Amino acid sequence: MLHHIPVLLTEVLTIWHAKKGGFYIDGTLGLGGHSEALLKKDPEAQVLGIDWDPQSIEIAKERLKKFGSRVFFAQGNFKNIKKIMENLKLPKTDGLLFDLGISSLQLENGMRGFSFQKNGPLDMRMDPSLDQTAEDLIQNLSIEELEQIIKNYGEEKKAKIIAREIKNHALKTRLDTLKLSQIILKIVQPFKSKGVSLHPATRTFQALRIATNNELENLKFILGETPDLLQSGAHSVWISFHSLEDRIIKNAIRDWAQGCICPKDFPQCVCQKHKEFINLTRKAIVAGEKEVLQNPRSRSAKLRAVEKI
Ligand SMILES: C[S@@+](CC[C@H](N)C(=O)[O-])C[C@H]1O[C@@H](n2cnc3c(N)ncnc32)[C@H](O)[C@@H]1O
Repeated sequence: MLHHIPVLLTEVLTIWHAKKGGFYIDGTLGLGGHSEALLKKDPEAQVLGIDWDPQSIEIAKERLKKFGSRVFFAQGNFKNIKKIMENLKLPKTDGLLFDLGISSLQLENGMRGFSFQKNGPLDMRMDPSLDQTAEDLIQNLSIEELEQIIKNYGEEKKAKIIAREIKNHALKTRLDTLKLSQIILKIVQPFKSKGVSLHPATRTFQALRIATNNELENLKFILGETPDLLQSGAHSVWISFHSLEDRIIKNAIRDWAQGCICPKDFPQCVCQKHKEFINLTRKAIVAGEKEVLQNPRSRSAKLRAVEKI
């Protein structure tokens, strides 16, 4: 079976598990690593596992079947958690987890198109029933639109020239992952992040994946719904892998954890804003050296969490 090592597992178990025997939601079930650990830790806990990727759900179902009726599964975008909970007649949750991004299952299968090291179609859809692949996106965007995506979602300085070259090639031939990666190799030098050498195509692939799956919009949407999904005392935990996601989460937490925002010299509050959450992580929790050595993917993980008042 394919292996995906759950990141920050000890920290997730401590924070996500807010109440013994509670009802938990894993919004990004993946291969079920975090959920399995929680179900083992607390023999009375129940988990609803959601994933957009039908193949991940099938693998997680097999892995978690030993927990019987303590686990519920739903294939779909976590944007739709409210509807999923209504359909399954589930109560508000005691703990919500989002371990964002893609799993090893998705990355290591060349046919899914996420990897610049494996040949395959330029697909990148988390849910293969989505209308538009990354290649369709490239075909449908203008050079300027593609440049904005690579610049904003990939934080890539050479976005302009990359976008131009990609569109030039896309006019003449079909693009696959290796062709795209070769185009970028001619433009971008290898670079380092946190002491680790990264492939020149890392940032452009990230940008195309985010755009193909509307990842930032999904995240913003579910952050907006989060207060309604949680019981009082429940915890919500997010693990993100790039600064764009982390910034969105950090800003949402800052807003929730802040009470009245009236100017100090107002005699009484007129804004009616109440503090809804306690921020459980003033600074994001990151993986220690040992974990990064065992699981290089954890090097860019940032965990933030809140408690609903
Ligand atoms: C990093 S993996 C999760 C790994 C999991 N925690 C484990 O231990 O196996 C992220 C998962 O989130 C899923 N995902 C990403 N965006 C999603 C969305 N909007 N809705 C539902 N699932 C999503 C991906 O399909 C992927 O399986």
